[in-house]
Amino acid sequence: MSDAAKSQKDPGEPAPVPIWIIPVFLALAICFVMNLWGHVEEAPEPVTRAQPYLTTDSVRQPSLKPEVTIDSFTHKCNSCHQHFESPEPTRLDRQRELIAEHAEIKLQHGNNKHCQNCHHPKDRESFVDHVGQAIPYNKSEQLCGKCHGPKYRDWKLGLHGRRNGYWDESRGPSKRLTCVACHDPHWPTFKPIAPAPGPAHPFSNH
Ligand code: HEC
Ligand code: HEC
Ligand code: HEC
Ligand code: HEC
Repeated sequence: MSDAAKSQKDPGEPAPVPIWIIPVFLALAICFVMNLWGHVEEAPEPVTRAQPYLTTDSVRQPSLKPEVTIDSFTHKCNSCHQHFESPEPTRLDRQRELIAEHAEIKLQHGNNKHCQNCHHPKDRESFVDHVGQAIPYNKSEQLCGKCHGPKYRDWKLGLHGRRNGYWDESRGPSKRLTCVACHDPHWPTFKPIAPAPGPAHPFSNH
């Protein structure tokens, strides 16, 4: 190979970095660290109109105690129900009409048309599982789970419903909303809720 060919540059080799770039970058870095321009990053005012949408309240207040309030008096279920037996559901395709009490309850739960599919036929202060055993009144998610197995499984895994607090429970408490905090057990269709307005520019007051 000739000398001329040796001195020729390899086209793939990168151009050498100009040496002056090092002090320039150093000077810039010092300016940034010492904040020589005096620019203060101001935290934007929180956009107050978003506040109502940041609430962690549930869409409905679940009733976890087996009692009803009639004319501002609170009664335990069995204070009335101990005095009479509940009739067996006679027709599976039709819902019983309630006249004497609870007439405000409109059962709209698909083909699930009988009060006693959920409420214990002998003990009104609990729910009933598939084999007739009682489910405590404040554990109604177990009741939902008897017919909505996959949803119940998803909910336990945190895929359905909502958790508030910490994902990593070793760092703090995590609270899981129960089914009836979102679904009315008698009319479980999730009611539409108004969407939040579009995002505003953080620095604008409009
Ligand atoms: C003030 C008395 C009273 C209280 C308190 C009361 N009930 Fe009732 N309940 C009745 C009467 C009366 C009927 C029968 C209504 C009819 O047949 O028209 C009834 C019917 C029912 C039925 C449906 C029919 C059946 O017999 O299967 C269910 C379910 C029920 N009650 C659940 C409850 C639950 C749960 C509570 C408590 C959270 C409760 N009730 C509290 C008086 C009461
Ligand atoms: C899908 C299961 C299910 C069916 C079917 C059902 N209930 Fe309930 N019911 C519940 C649950 C769960 C609660 C308590 C939780 C809550 O209301 O937040 C409840 C609560 C009640 C209460 C207490 C007051 C209230 O409104 O919370 C009454 C009274 C009642 N049910 C009566 C009835 C009657 C009457 C029927 C039949 C027409 C019926 N339920 C059918 C699950 C059911
Ligand atoms: C005895 C069985 C049974 C139990 C217990 C039960 N469900 Fe259901 N659920 C049904 C049936 C049947 C349907 C209707 C399915 C359909 O129409 O495709 C349904 C439908 C639903 C729907 C869908 C409603 C819609 O509009 O699409 C929701 C939500 C729901 N149930 C929630 C619950 C919750 C919450 C509980 C516990 C309080 C519960 N269910 C307990 C049988 C049950
Ligand atoms: C944080 C609120 C929340 C909780 C808690 C919750 N759900 Fe739901 N659920 C929803 C919403 C929202 C939908 C979707 C409604 C829609 O698509 O219109 C839904 C849908 C459903 C449906 C209908 C699914 C379908 O494919 O049509 C069922 C059944 C149901 N939920 C059961 C349950 C059960 C059982 C539990 C408790 C183990 C539960 N949910 C807990 C909010 C909740």
